[in-house]
Amino acid sequence: MQPDQVYQLLRTLTSPVVALTSERGGKRNGMISDSAVRASIVPAIPRLSVYVHKFNFSHDLIFETGRFVLHLLRTDQFELIHALGFVSGRTRDKLAAVPHTLGALGAPVLDDCYAHFECRVINVMDTGSSTCFLGDVAAVGFGKASRPRGEVMTAAHFRANMPAAWRREYEDLLATAQRYAEQRSRDIKAVIWRGLEA
Ligand SMILES: Cc1cc2nc3c(=O)[nH]c(=O)nc-3n(C[C@H](O)[C@H](O)[C@H](O)COP(=O)(O)O)c2cc1C
Repeated sequence: MQPDQVYQLLRTLTSPVVALTSERGGKRNGMISDSAVRASIVPAIPRLSVYVHKFNFSHDLIFETGRFVLHLLRTDQFELIHALGFVSGRTRDKLAAVPHTLGALGAPVLDDCYAHFECRVINVMDTGSSTCFLGDVAAVGFGKASRPRGEVMTAAHFRANMPAAWRREYEDLLATAQRYAEQRSRDIKAVIWRGLEA
């Protein structure tokens, strides 16, 4: 089978499109991911995991603070995905125009989302090009709302329905990320997460 066919099959395993926010020393940031999944079957110990590439500004903010907020998004939140997922927070304050407050862990909680999970990192796995963060869910909510509304934005829905004007840029960003990952994916480090106090 061709690598592209394998990649398309793997895409069926991916998560909804989520917004990840983080904060370090007063700097707030947000990015988009479609690699988050449930990582626990125990209702009393809710956990999730997400892969963040090392070239993303968010990677260092999350790694260095051990906390992030994961937001499920609705199918009408295309503009937010464009604002957070197509440009890096290294060059612009992406959350300046996105209403939010700081949550219980000190990371930004977006007012408008389907639901949000405030997470503490409890372990990490290096993939060479990215880090898989395993998070304990410490607090849950629906942004500023009291309950979820609408439908959750899936990766397939985003790819099928994003505005045509964005598609070229999206494909170019993906191709650049794939080249970065291809060069680094075999250089895996044994990272031991000792927590932030160690
Ligand atoms: C639909 C979509 C899915 C994405 N999934 C991921 C992902 O799973 N992991 C990742 O590291 N970046 C992912 N990205 C790319 C980041 O969101 C993007 O590089 C962003 O600009 C990073 O911002 P930052 O540098 O401010 O952290 C995705 C982008 C989009 C639009």
